[in-house]
Amino acid sequence: MDIIHSAAALRGRLQREPNNVFVPTMGNLHDGHIQLINIAKPRAACTVVSIFVNRLQFGPREDFDRYPRTLETDAARLKAAGVDVVFAPDEKEIYPERQTYVVEPSDLQYILEGAHRPGHFRGVATVVLKLFNLVAPHSAIFGKKDYQQYLVLRDMVRQFALPIEIIPAETVRAPDGLALSTRNTYLSAGERKEAPRLYGVLKKVRDEVGSGARDYQRLDQQAMAELARNGWQPDYVAVRRRADLRPPTERDRELVVVAAARLGRTRLIDNLEITLPAA
Ligand code: PAF
Repeated sequence: MDIIHSAAALRGRLQREPNNVFVPTMGNLHDGHIQLINIAKPRAACTVVSIFVNRLQFGPREDFDRYPRTLETDAARLKAAGVDVVFAPDEKEIYPERQTYVVEPSDLQYILEGAHRPGHFRGVATVVLKLFNLVAPHSAIFGKKDYQQYLVLRDMVRQFALPIEIIPAETVRAPDGLALSTRNTYLSAGERKEAPRLYGVLKKVRDEVGSGARDYQRLDQQAMAELARNGWQPDYVAVRRRADLRPPTERDRELVVVAAARLGRTRLIDNLEITLPAA
């Protein structure tokens, strides 16, 4: 496995690898990332993983500074997982000058996560486009835990006609249901015990919809109230349609319930897909 820090060396290395699949990450890898790599590996001769904590997608009061940087342990995990190339640039390599050209995603960037994290999806789309240009993969894997991110990037690739297949991967969960996330490491022992409630409220919403409930706003509010009663500060719980995360109409069958809430200092997100039987 090659660990490469410069864009020039990466291009040189990948000239020999026209058939590559890409897994972009911000490092501090957990089993969720390893599953992305397991999905990637059979699809190409060369699996490329990037590790870069992208300042552009963090708000001024977010956790950019304390986001864990653990390159050595990450590299050991990636080697064991059979990755071929790790691209771990520093900030100057990705942003040698102020990034004044940016990708401005559609209105999808302003709702849900975007309403609570202004500029987040612009930062994500900009760095991912840049990484795509450096790696030139034929496919890239993104976890569905970041559902809105997956949709923003899927739409970016379609709108710019990039020759890259975006492959979504299922969320990996701890045995108690908590979706794996680097930010889980911020939780205290007590908060970690409480954290699976987020998945619990999503399952309740899914089950109620499955039993015929269609007043989605009431379900969203009930779920937020349950979180608030248990010490959370919910940003949103919302049943939306999967295609564009807009409120569902009566005809929509493919839904997803998405949620974001703060537990102490940690902001967690999760979602659960819901498929209604044909009308
Ligand atoms: O999902 C992530 O880890 C990041 O948002 C990504 C896609 C690597 C871009 O920085």
